[in-house]
Amino acid sequence: MILSHSGDFIHNYQSYQSTKNKEDLNKLIVSIYQDLLPNLKLSSIHHHHPVVVHQVLKPWRLLGTGNYAAVFYHPAFSELVIKVYAPGREGWSEEVEVYRCLGEHPAFSKCFYAQDNFLVLQRLHGITLYDAMHQGLAIPNQVIKDIDLALKYARSRNLNPHDIHGRNVMISLEGKGLVVDISDFLKSEPCSIWSDLKKAYYWLYIPLFSWHRLSVPYFILDLVRVIYRMWRRLLRGTGKLRCVER
Ligand SMILES: Nc1ncnc2c1ncn2[C@@H]1O[C@H](COP(=O)(O)OP(=O)(O)OP(=O)(O)O)[C@@H](O)[C@H]1O
Ligand SMILES: [Mg+2]
Repeated sequence: MILSHSGDFIHNYQSYQSTKNKEDLNKLIVSIYQDLLPNLKLSSIHHHHPVVVHQVLKPWRLLGTGNYAAVFYHPAFSELVIKVYAPGREGWSEEVEVYRCLGEHPAFSKCFYAQDNFLVLQRLHGITLYDAMHQGLAIPNQVIKDIDLALKYARSRNLNPHDIHGRNVMISLEGKGLVVDISDFLKSEPCSIWSDLKKAYYWLYIPLFSWHRLSVPYFILDLVRVIYRMWRRLLRGTGKLRCVER
């Protein structure tokens, strides 16, 4: 199939990958249009809950979901992921713009191609802090420091780190901190989610959880998320909140 690329190539895939793999991106884009997208059933049922994947063609695999998009990979191209926005969910063009502004940094992914409602991104290997809490894995202090440095770098690129919650940051296989979702970094309002999460890390996680490796059930993690959202809504009502949620 001859592919006419009318999407955006933001980071240079060929300088990132070895020569052997340089054709991968083209093959992957063909497969996204031929197999993934026509057979994908994806919907956003509630704005504050992750999107739901009703159907995806094999061998494509679901890697994760957020409130806006689902992220897949193909086993033959396992270093790349495809983030597909659910119908009716905005934010794709802003995310493309963030990747354009971000440049390259080891704690962030790269965007190799973007078109319509999807982005082809570098796969980050690791586990989100949210899943690490669920599995009772240790969250080293270094992860928090790495994420702080990464966010400082983003600020140096005139971006505004936003919506940095437990599903948007990861521990890499080497134990380093990664930022997996930068889609809100164009927003201009200040956001306190990351500083609140750090407070929870130093005041609750270190004294209570770091010794026991307690695995926290998802329903408790989700309950904490809902209570936190309600608390923020309350503060917003009193004019004390400095962050607007996406
Ligand atoms: N580059 C990546 N490499 C590996 N996994 C990823 C990557 N990007 C996203 N993921 C996984 O997919 C999940 C959903 O992606 P993402 O957070 O970008 O979606 P979103 O809908 O924008 O999220 P939010 O609800 O925070 O706005 C992430 O929590 C993570 O588990
Ligand atoms: Mg996210």
